Amino acid sequence: MGFAGRGERMMAARASAPGKIILVGEHAVVYGQPAIAVPLAAVQATVSAEPGEPGAGLLLRAADLGETLRADAIAEGDRLYDALVFPARLALEALGEPVPDMTLVVRSTIPVASGLGSGAAIAAAIIRAVCGAFGVTLPRERLNALVYEVERRHHGTPSGIDNTVIVYEQPVYFVRGAPLETFRIARPFTLLVADSGQPSPTRVAVQDVRTLYEQDRERYGAALAAIGAITRRARQAIETGQVDTLGALMRENQALLRELSVSSPALDRLCAAATEAGAWGAKLSGGGRGGNLIALTAADRVGAVSEALYAAGAVRVIATTVGAQD
Ligand code: PMV
Repeated sequence: MGFAGRGERMMAARASAPGKIILVGEHAVVYGQPAIAVPLAAVQATVSAEPGEPGAGLLLRAADLGETLRADAIAEGDRLYDALVFPARLALEALGEPVPDMTLVVRSTIPVASGLGSGAAIAAAIIRAVCGAFGVTLPRERLNALVYEVERRHHGTPSGIDNTVIVYEQPVYFVRGAPLETFRIARPFTLLVADSGQPSPTRVAVQDVRTLYEQDRERYGAALAAIGAITRRARQAIETGQVDTLGALMRENQALLRELSVSSPALDRLCAAATEAGAWGAKLSGGGRGGNLIALTAADRVGAVSEALYAAGAVRVIATTVGAQD
């Protein structure tokens, strides 16, 4: 079935994008240090672009909207504008197309505001679906640049790591402003991703780290550089299959994130529970203050560590193996 008007050329399209985990290096990455992130395929944002009635304009449907909304009824500055309307507008601008009669149906299993890249994944899926409806597949670099624009609206000064790992869907060694770098995973490893149940206000956490850094550049500059050094060692550990070393580095990274004030009592509790139950290492992932914790766990400890995480207050635990299909 075609779309109305110019839409004879248009078709129904569907697109998706995964969540992501930052393994090591968050916050320091904003200051030019490297960070490592991997896609999390267990959670996904999926968007369908469906033909609309002639004259209907652009409509949005998502589980948390409760109803179908007209895009032009959502004011700029509204959270939904940034999350849904802005990416669709960017896609139409990139295509040079006027607003079509189209319904975007947005579904996502990525928890919002939890450090798993929900905003970037929804934006990537919307842009892909809108472009797909016009028969266009944007090159990844172009898509990445557009999703970065969306991230800027969400977070102010994002490093670009979320959009990059989500658009390229592969493990990345990310340095702000540098060309994309991937790396070899010598031995697959298992992570448990535990949701603290508390929101992770990335923009606030990033601003608070900035304030600390401005107040005491020597102390916090050293902490950020130490995180960068951990990331470089973590890459080596992953490339040589030294999973227990990676665990120790995650613990060191968590101590530094605590010093930067971005952990929380709930995250500290989850970290302690995971390591006491036998995880090699655990740390918050993403902006922090809430959101998700990751625990690096031997395959035969997954059950025990998950149980410990639930007992310590996790609301959801996902197991994922990194590097399994390489
Ligand atoms: O909370 P998230 O998933 O948006 O991750 C933020 C990562 C930070 O390093 C804290 C910020 C950034 O822009 O890289």
